[in-house]
Amino acid sequence: MTAKNDWWRNAVIYQIYPKSFMDSNGDGVGDLPGIISRLDYIQALGVDAIWLSPIFLSPGKDNGYDIQDYCCIDPQFGSNDDIDELILQAHQRGLKVIMDLVANHTSDQHDWFLKSKTSRDNPYSDYYIWRDPLPDGGVPNNWGANFGGSAWEWCAERQQYYLHLFAKEQPDLNWENPRVRDEIYRIMEFWAQKGIDGWRMDVITLISKYTDFPNYQVDHNLPVVGWMHSNGPRVHEFIQEMHDKVLAPYGMMTVGEAPGSTPENALQYIADSRRELDMVFTFEHTDVDILPGGINRKWQLQPFSLPRLKSILAKWQDGLHGLGWNALYFENHDQPRIVSRWGNDQAYRAECATAWATVLHGMQGTPFVYQGEEIGMTNIHLPLEQYNDVEIVNNYNELVVKQKTQSHDAFMAAVYQIGRDNARTPMQWDSSPYAGFSSATPWLPVNPRYKEINVMQDRQNNLSVFRYYQQLIALRHRERILIEGDFELLLPEHPQLFCYMRRLEDKCWLVVANLSDGEVSFEWQDLKQLEAGRVIISNMGGTDENRILKPWMAFIMEY
Ligand code: NOJ
Repeated sequence: MTAKNDWWRNAVIYQIYPKSFMDSNGDGVGDLPGIISRLDYIQALGVDAIWLSPIFLSPGKDNGYDIQDYCCIDPQFGSNDDIDELILQAHQRGLKVIMDLVANHTSDQHDWFLKSKTSRDNPYSDYYIWRDPLPDGGVPNNWGANFGGSAWEWCAERQQYYLHLFAKEQPDLNWENPRVRDEIYRIMEFWAQKGIDGWRMDVITLISKYTDFPNYQVDHNLPVVGWMHSNGPRVHEFIQEMHDKVLAPYGMMTVGEAPGSTPENALQYIADSRRELDMVFTFEHTDVDILPGGINRKWQLQPFSLPRLKSILAKWQDGLHGLGWNALYFENHDQPRIVSRWGNDQAYRAECATAWATVLHGMQGTPFVYQGEEIGMTNIHLPLEQYNDVEIVNNYNELVVKQKTQSHDAFMAAVYQIGRDNARTPMQWDSSPYAGFSSATPWLPVNPRYKEINVMQDRQNNLSVFRYYQQLIALRHRERILIEGDFELLLPEHPQLFCYMRRLEDKCWLVVANLSDGEVSFEWQDLKQLEAGRVIISNMGGTDENRILKPWMAFIMEY
C-alpha cells in the first residue's frame, strides 16, 4: 500500500483508446502489445501517465464500456500477461497507468446479469434495477437512455423492466445493494494489487438513483434524459465508502466523469475535506455548441460562441481555485477533434491545434491529451452505414427513423460535427497503408487525410504540433505559476481572442490566443508593460507584429 500523494497536480495525462492506437498482430484492432511498442513515443511527448479506455472482456456493444468480466483482458487486446507487461514497461519509463472503471453498469452478458434476470429471488436478483410494469404494461417512468429510447427494457423471463441509462445491453447496477458495492471494490483491489496508479471513473455521478423514479414533468411523451439522471441522493455516501475502502488505502488517483456537473456540485466530489475524488470531467464547456434542452439532445447544435466558452472555463477556474482541482480537456473518445469542431482543420490546422493547446495547458488543472490530438488529427465524414458508434446508430434509429424529430441531413451534420467516431479512427503514425496503424483493414476506416497528417509527417513540418505539445508539457513541469498561479480572464466578450492572466507571487504571465481565421489588431490597452515582456512560448515564434495577431496565433508572455 502506498500513501496518497498529489503527483497528478503537476501531471499531464495521455488518453489511449486501445482499439484505435496500434495493432501489433494484423487483425485491424489495436492491442496491448501495440501500445507497449509505442510507449517510447508517449514518453517522448513528456506526459506523466497514460489512461487506457476499457480493455476488459466485453461483447463490445459500446467498445468496452459494456464489461462482461472486469478481471480478464479482452482477447482482442491481448492477455492478462500483456497488461502486466504494459504496467511494468510504463512504470520503467516513469509513466503511471490509469484504468477506466465502468461501475454504473455492466454488459448484459456479465454473469451477474445473466443470473439476475432469471428470477426475483436468487442471490443476484437485486444486482440490477428491476421494476414492475405500470398497470397498462408500460414502462415505469419517462426516463430516457443516453443512446436513445426509453431507459427501461422489458425482460420476459422476469416479467419486469430493468433500467439502462445507456444501451439496453448495458444494464445499470444497483448501488443500493451493499453486495454490488463490495464486488466493485474487490475488482478495484485486484487492479490496485497489479500496480495501477489510478482510475478514470465512467459516469460516476450516475451511480445513485432516485429510487422512486419520478417522471420528468414535460409537455411531450418522448423519453427524457434530465437532471435526475445524475447526482442522486446517495452518490457521495457511495463514493466516500469507496474512497475509504479502496482508494485511500492504495493511494489511487481518481478522475470522475461527471455529467451534470457545475463548479458548485463538483466541489462536493473533489474538495479535500470530502474524501471522494481528485478531479472530475465536466461537460459544461463541451456542451457549448449543443442546444440545451432540445428534444434531439446532443444532435441539435447551436452556433459556437467563444465568449460563452470562455465564461464557462473561467467559471471553473475561479470556482475551483484553492478548493479543488480542474481536469482540463477538449478531446477524448467521446468528443470530436478540436481543430474540426471549433477551428480550421484546413489552411490553419497546425496553428489551430497549437492555439487551442496553449489555451488549455495555460490554465490551472491537469491537462488530458487524447491520442492524435498531439498531431492535430481531424474529424472524418463517413456514410451512415460505416459508423460503428452505438450512440450514433441507436440515436439515428430513434430520432430520424422512429420519432422523426430530426431530418437525416440535420442528424448527419451533427455527426460530422460532434459524433464520437470522429475521435475513434485509427491513430495516424505514418503514410503507409492504414496509416501504419495495422497491416489489415482497420475496424473503423482510417481518416483519408492520413498521408498529410501523421506522426512522421508532423516531425517534418515547420510547425510540429507534437513538438509544441512537448514544449508546453515541459513548461508545466518546470513552472510553478502554471500549477499554482491565480487565473484572471481578460477581454471576456472578445469574439476572437482568448486571453487570460496567471499570477503567482511577483510573477505574471499572459496567455493570448487568436482563435479565428482573421487577423486581430490588438492594442495592448492597459497592458502597456507587456511590450517589454518576455516570450515564454509561441506557436509562431514571437508575439504580435505591429500589434496584429495573425490567424490562430497563440503565445504566453511574462512581464
Ligand atoms: C462514458 C464513456 O466515456 C462513453 O464512451 C460510454 O459510452 C458511456 N460512458 C457509457 O459507459
